[in-house]
Amino acid sequence: MQSFATTLVLYISVIAALLQNVIAAVSSQAPSNATAEQLENQKRSFSIGYVVFPGWEPLDVFGPLEILFEMSFYYKMTLAVIAKEVGPVATVPPPHNIGGPSGPHMDVGFLLGPTITATHTFENAPALDILIVPGGEGVVALEEANDTSAEDFVASRVGELDYLLSVCTGAAILAKSGVLNGKRATTNKGAWAQVTSFGTNISWVPSARWVVDGNVWTSSGVAAGLDMTYAFMKYLYGTEDLDPVMNSIEYAPHTNPHWDPFSVVHNVPGADKNMSLIDCVGPVGYS
Ligand SMILES: *[C@@H]1O[C@H](CO)[C@@H](O)[C@H](O)[C@H]1NC(C)=O
Ligand SMILES: *[C@@H]1O[C@H](CO)[C@@H](O)[C@H](O)[C@H]1NC(C)=O
Ligand SMILES: *[C@@H]1O[C@H](CO)[C@@H](O)[C@H](O)[C@H]1NC(C)=O
Ligand SMILES: *[C@@H]1O[C@H](CO)[C@@H](O)[C@H](O)[C@H]1NC(C)=O
Repeated sequence: MQSFATTLVLYISVIAALLQNVIAAVSSQAPSNATAEQLENQKRSFSIGYVVFPGWEPLDVFGPLEILFEMSFYYKMTLAVIAKEVGPVATVPPPHNIGGPSGPHMDVGFLLGPTITATHTFENAPALDILIVPGGEGVVALEEANDTSAEDFVASRVGELDYLLSVCTGAAILAKSGVLNGKRATTNKGAWAQVTSFGTNISWVPSARWVVDGNVWTSSGVAAGLDMTYAFMKYLYGTEDLDPVMNSIEYAPHTNPHWDPFSVVHNVPGADKNMSLIDCVGPVGYS
């Protein structure tokens, strides 16, 4: 059993960490160079929705959420985690053909399966300003099961949104919903052929860490969601509080949307080797 003293020390350190963020918030040194629109955004509240389904990719959800969580120290946001049913939704997809119809049929119940708690269903989700759609192997399982609930939800809500974002193969859900028709978009470079088979008249950008077309933001695979979220937060609020958050979480985002060594690694047709390899910060992931 934890002693009272240990518990107290634990509480104090948690509170100290929180206070540090708050102090940083009120004593932000950098003079604001925010635009009028960013200043407006800093004053309003954003209702954020996150679609989840069995087999969501952990970092697709918690990468962006890490940045949003930290930014919610500074600006008003609310979060709804939206799925078919309320309650826990695991990262483990149901048995299906892994990677697509030609993949091996597998029960991947042996995978690590942390859950996120869905707070709302597709039917009772609150009004939303921002909707984020992650990817993951679960997208393949939804497709195999002819389960259109996620894309139907996106299609039904796109009209009310200020911004729609997808991470990784979440772009397949956007494509199937029809919202990408006539737009530029990108997705996970390792799942390129499959995801780009969905939708009509979509200009899939082969080399891009993320793509913005109007109010629709799509990122490349998994960790690219962090970089897109940095760019999105910068667009929304400016950098005065965002950059201290990056220092606080010790993350150096890729800020050039053309940086995409993974489009080269995965031999995406039309990949731009020159642009993809600029601004690389590490020796891994490309050759
Ligand atoms: C504000 O300054 C940061 C660098 O500190 C820059 O990245 C950003 O583009 C500037 N924003 C505007 C609106 O000029
Ligand atoms: C999904 O739809 C396809 C094509 O209509 C059909 O062949 C398949 O049996 C359906 N799968 C399920 C699980 O309903
Ligand atoms: C396809 O999208 C482009 C915009 O990228 C638009 O100009 C064009 O009309 C669209 N074509 C069709 C057939 O919808
Ligand atoms: C890529 O860079 C190389 C070396 O700088 C250059 O020779 C080549 O023309 C570039 N290719 C494109 C498509 O820009």
